[in-house]
Amino acid sequence: MRVQVAIVGAGPAGLILGQLLHKAGIDAVVLEAHTPEYVLGRIRAGVLEQVAVDLLDEAGVGRRMHAEGLPHDGFELLIEGRRHRIDLAGLTGGKQVMVYGQTELTKDLMDARASAGLKTVYEAKDVSVHDFDTKRPRVRYRNGGDGQSHEIECDFIAGCDGFHGVCRASVPKNAIANFERVYPFGWLGLLSDTPPVSGELIYAKTERGFALCSMRSHTRSRYYVQVPLTEKVENWSDDKFWDELRKRLDPQANGRLVTGPSIEKSIAPLRSFVAEPMRFGRLFLAGDAAHIVPPTGAKGLNLAATDVRTLSRALIEFYAGSETGIDHYSARCLRRIWKAERFSWWMTMLLHTFPDTNPFEQRALDAELDYVVHSLAGRTTMAENYVGLPFED
Ligand code: FAD
Ligand code: PHB
Repeated sequence: MRVQVAIVGAGPAGLILGQLLHKAGIDAVVLEAHTPEYVLGRIRAGVLEQVAVDLLDEAGVGRRMHAEGLPHDGFELLIEGRRHRIDLAGLTGGKQVMVYGQTELTKDLMDARASAGLKTVYEAKDVSVHDFDTKRPRVRYRNGGDGQSHEIECDFIAGCDGFHGVCRASVPKNAIANFERVYPFGWLGLLSDTPPVSGELIYAKTERGFALCSMRSHTRSRYYVQVPLTEKVENWSDDKFWDELRKRLDPQANGRLVTGPSIEKSIAPLRSFVAEPMRFGRLFLAGDAAHIVPPTGAKGLNLAATDVRTLSRALIEFYAGSETGIDHYSARCLRRIWKAERFSWWMTMLLHTFPDTNPFEQRALDAELDYVVHSLAGRTTMAENYVGLPFED
């Protein structure tokens, strides 16, 4: 098979890129290691920045998001029992975020791909990438159904295969630099068909650890509690989860909390990670394949979207005769990525309980959070990063 672009990974990055390239008349195939059901079963992000919303509109997949998504004007910080509202719209000249689940977005993208008749190979096994230092890269895989081996010849490979994917791992070690911070805790998340405890998200900092009250709709809630990395999800019955969440909320929230059976429960470890550069000849990394943020700032999916926005424009420019876009891809993305990395790390440091922190540093962080919520400048900084910094092309 020969295509212009071979996309590895059918998460948000790969599927949005596929849609943008299709709109531009560029022919691409998407290879995904798992089944569509598996991809849709992973409950992850919930908050979209305006730039991501605009990009989904541009990709032609925004209809259901606008009909069913929940635009939010602010969120609340609950710090040791006291509420502080971050008025996103008021502090940023009217900007909002959109609460719309990654699962729904992925489903919209899958449906758009299917109805346009675009080729996606699910259960592509042993995917490997070759010759990306030449003008004729190739991707090989084995078909999960019949076991047959295939080779795709292409102009470019887009590595959209997430943190554990094959693309970044195929780059020579001496060509890539990794920057990493691993946190000594994870988030235990629970999804339930119960009405959200509040109209806005609540980020809670307590002595027992962080908690987040989020949602997917007016009837579906998503809650998280910080847990040590040693915790196993099997040890958390629904009742134990609800009891722990209650201990981290205030009386107002507890009065409104509706509990119910979980639909999904999982633990996600927290990590900050950036690989530089993001281009290796004709191989481009995008999304979680190149960087990870802790979920506290709600930036991971948004960065995946902005990476592929930049990549799609670069590839369109290439086919129109200019290599400038592909030459600048990595530097352009990394400028935005590092700002989101900084913000996500900062929110994580401010809102979580760290075992074994130096008591001086802990008090300095507590003072910083106190400063942020009581200062207009502090709240404005938090709001403008949360809604997403302006795009600098
Ligand atoms: P992925 O979604 O990881 O997709 C990669 C795809 O590649 C997968 O389908 C995988 O199966 C496939 N793949 C892997 N290896 C191979 C291979 N060898 N061959 C073929 N295919 C392969 N972000 C936000 O913006 N807002 C939030 O509110 C938010 N909340 C989050 C909450 C949690 C609990 C978690 C865990 C994450 C959250 N994120 C959030 C982050 C967000 O979910 C990710 O950043 C996003 O999924 C990245 O998309 P991606 O397409 O780059 O990677
Ligand atoms: C979510 O709804 O899953 C969610 C929301 C905000 C975050 C992280 C996760 O910061």
